[in-house]
Amino acid sequence: EFSLSLFCHCSSFIQVITVLSSLIVYLFLCLLSLPSGAVAEWRPRLQLSGWIPVREWTVSCEQANCVHNYTCTLNHSGSETGRVVFVFQVNDDGATLYENAFSWNKIANMLYLESPAGVGYSYSDDHEYATNDNQVADDNYKALQSFFAKFPNFTQNEFFIFGESYGGIYAPTLSLRVATGKTKINFQGFAVGNGISSFALNDQSLIHFGYYHGLFGEDLWRDLNINCCNNGTCDFYNSSSETCRIMVNRAFSIVYNSGLNEYALYLDCEGSGKSYERTMSHLFKNSRRNSEKLKVIMNKGRLSLNEVPPCINSTAQMNWLNRGDVRKALHIPDILPPWDICSDVVGAAYTTLYATVKDVYLKLLSLGLRALVYNGDTDMACNFLGDRWFVEDLGIKVALTRYQTWINDDQVAGFYQRFGNITFLTVKGAGHMVPQWAPSPALHMFQSFITNSTY
Ligand SMILES: *[C@@H]1O[C@H](CO)[C@@H](O)[C@H](O)[C@H]1NC(C)=O
Ligand SMILES: *[C@@H]1O[C@H](CO)[C@@H](O)[C@H](O)[C@H]1NC(C)=O
Ligand SMILES: *[C@@H]1O[C@H](CO)[C@@H](O)[C@H](O)[C@H]1NC(C)=O
Ligand SMILES: *[C@@H]1O[C@H](CO)[C@@H](O)[C@H](O)[C@H]1NC(C)=O
Ligand SMILES: *[C@@H]1O[C@H](CO)[C@@H](O)[C@H](O)[C@H]1NC(C)=O
Ligand SMILES: *[C@@H]1O[C@H](CO)[C@@H](O)[C@H](O)[C@H]1NC(C)=O
Ligand SMILES: *[C@@H]1O[C@H](CO)[C@@H](O)[C@H](O)[C@H]1NC(C)=O
Repeated sequence: EFSLSLFCHCSSFIQVITVLSSLIVYLFLCLLSLPSGAVAEWRPRLQLSGWIPVREWTVSCEQANCVHNYTCTLNHSGSETGRVVFVFQVNDDGATLYENAFSWNKIANMLYLESPAGVGYSYSDDHEYATNDNQVADDNYKALQSFFAKFPNFTQNEFFIFGESYGGIYAPTLSLRVATGKTKINFQGFAVGNGISSFALNDQSLIHFGYYHGLFGEDLWRDLNINCCNNGTCDFYNSSSETCRIMVNRAFSIVYNSGLNEYALYLDCEGSGKSYERTMSHLFKNSRRNSEKLKVIMNKGRLSLNEVPPCINSTAQMNWLNRGDVRKALHIPDILPPWDICSDVVGAAYTTLYATVKDVYLKLLSLGLRALVYNGDTDMACNFLGDRWFVEDLGIKVALTRYQTWINDDQVAGFYQRFGNITFLTVKGAGHMVPQWAPSPALHMFQSFITNSTY
């Protein structure tokens, strides 16, 4: 069943996103030894990479000519988000780099955490990689405590947490620990890009997204409505009707299994998506809701989470990160395996605890923190509509703006609406990895958010 496939994706986001973070870190480090002979002009004031001894985290900090304060990015987004945020990105040859004109560290100090341990080049001495949402938040908080203990001069800087994709869970749960924990941190707010905020709303909205983006024919749409809706209310997520579930599976398999790039509807599927179809097709008989069943399947090795995310080509990044001189520059111990975009070990042993992070958001907002929920509007893994419904469902009555456009480079860059201290914002035409696919609007959005100014 479709729903299973969605679950799998979200599991792999955990790894994918984390990996992305590490990408960023490593790119920075590369500069230190310039293994690829890339841009030599750039001279950050502080740039380092290392492990914070909390189940071994890789951390990189970079301070350039920063106007603003500290931002911690948990890259929980799709596969390649991190690249664009970073100062340098990998060329297609997998050997050289080019400068990112829209890197976020142009205006803020950035710290990237690879998490959970086991993704990218992060590792655990005891090889214990089973973890869950709360454990990850605890570990990330410990990592931050270590960081601020080591660099106390950053504790006065304004501090923000960003996460993407499965970071929709990582970022708010870590934020709550930072906001309520003992360590003095000048925490101002958090942002989530194309995040999973509510599994129910994500599924429920995807059916609408698919129909109104031309993916389903009228016959399927009619069957969905006849079988899943009652008196004007539809339940595409948890219907008790078997026929409804079959129709929803059919719809989801069009989204996830027909060769479309689920991370960006209007981009091609790199590698044509065939391998993905093969590996996932046998799984479409199970329901994602039955996560126990899924676990069994995964443990039997019939599902390899080590597959690269469908339709995403990360060959260049993998090649670059696995270069001997790059590993050396990053101080990667020889015993660590090659860098990969996903970790099936971490994914198979991961336990999701939050069906929705609504309560976490409500607590954070009640503490006076600022929040931004942004979505590239062509993503189908975590579609904009589900996150918009999530924000509306928080029930914040004070709409400070109407739903309106925002402008970047004289063009409409998307839409936004502010409710109290939380803003929902779309990035027009961008997919799952907003900073990668809309770098200039992404930097604009980032700056507006951290400076608390209008979009
Ligand atoms: C997550 O996304 C942010 C913001 O888009 C990106 O800069 C970063 O590389 C990613 N971080 C991690 C840890 O994956
Ligand atoms: C913080 O301290 C580090 C080293 O301890 C130093 O390199 C850096 O410039 C300081 N940063 C600020 C903002 O003072
Ligand atoms: C960082 O934030 C603090 C507190 O808001 C402020 O005093 C300081 O000037 C900021 N630093 C920079 C470099 O903007
Ligand atoms: C259908 O919805 C209407 C309005 O929402 C409500 O008044 C009515 O009682 C509902 N009927 C049934 C059978 O649930
Ligand atoms: C799904 O439906 C069942 C039966 O109607 C209900 O008990 C359960 O709470 C629902 N689950 C979710 C996550 O909505
Ligand atoms: C992936 O990218 C590499 C270059 O970075 C290219 O050589 C390769 O052909 C691409 N693979 C696919 C399936 O597009
Ligand atoms: C928004 O945040 C500010 C500053 O933290 C706080 O004073 C205010 O009460 C918050 N507003 C709402 C509606 O929560």
